[in-house]
Amino acid sequence: MRKKITVIGAGNVGATAAQRIWQRGFADVVLLDIIAGMPQGKAIDLMHSGPITGSDAHITGTNDYAKTSDSDIVVVTSGLPRKPGMSRDDLLSANQEIVTGVIRNVVKYSPGCILIIVTNPLDAMAYLALHVSGFPRNRVMGMSGVLDTARMRAIIAAEMNVSVEDVTAIILGAHGDTMVAIPRLTTVGGVPITELLPSTTIDIIMDRAAHSGAEVVSLLKTGSAFYAPGLAVAHMAEAVIMDTKRILPVSAYLKGEYGIDGVFLGVPAKIGSAGVEQILEFQLTAEEAASLQKSAGSVRELVDLMKLR
Ligand code: APR
Repeated sequence: MRKKITVIGAGNVGATAAQRIWQRGFADVVLLDIIAGMPQGKAIDLMHSGPITGSDAHITGTNDYAKTSDSDIVVVTSGLPRKPGMSRDDLLSANQEIVTGVIRNVVKYSPGCILIIVTNPLDAMAYLALHVSGFPRNRVMGMSGVLDTARMRAIIAAEMNVSVEDVTAIILGAHGDTMVAIPRLTTVGGVPITELLPSTTIDIIMDRAAHSGAEVVSLLKTGSAFYAPGLAVAHMAEAVIMDTKRILPVSAYLKGEYGIDGVFLGVPAKIGSAGVEQILEFQLTAEEAASLQKSAGSVRELVDLMKLR
């Protein structure tokens, strides 16, 4: 029997994630939204593309949590997206309410699932999901680094006119302005970019990558990015379902790793059937460690604002 993945929120990111997961065929997909008819319509539209893509997986749209029962993974994208001029943090209170209700329903119907949180502000919403679900920390992760590093890799590849496949990047910290890129471990063909590009160019690349989500928002005007975020979700889900043990940058709950405790932050992690199976740690420079502490502080501020108890 195929595994089952539910995607909550059938908007731009959710529908794109559902499409990417379903097309790969590694799981049946349930797409849920509060808008009557919308997830059903999108699911039928996707189903009609099955004969063209060759996907035999099932996809169902629904407004009813009973249809999501016993999902192996639940992806949470429900919530408001950013509008121009809004930071991810402006979304906090609206999305806190939405995500709290969603997680209660998810736990009721899929108590053994792994949660992939996408709703922004991401690291705070992942904390909220852990708090409301009561799940162990390995079963809650946020989608941030797969997207952030992909953006950085795309920008570096374009700058150097090389294949994206030969560019690797490590980004730690929050999914937001305080993200911590590590240029000394960002490589092209295994060679650190610090050996290949002048520091001024690296600074411009890092800045552009950190603000590329906002760049898309300012151009779209009515919402935020969804093609790359949706695909990033599918990539994470595949690592869990296929138990690939890929090392992916995800937002994970830290318990002392990197000297940080009690907060979700982006870190490299081994992803397999148990979810976040291991957090990889490496020695940071004093400057990197200070930036990561600052990033953790920005997430803690948001978590405090939610007044969870
Ligand atoms: N339960 C289920 N679905 C909900 C709920 C709820 N309680 N509240 C809202 N939704 C649905 C909306 O009806 C909408 O279809 O969530 C969907 C959100 O879709 P979009 O508005 O298109 O937003 P999207 O671009 O997909 O972004 C969703 O992901 O990347 C983050 O910042 C982004 O927080 C935002 C989230």
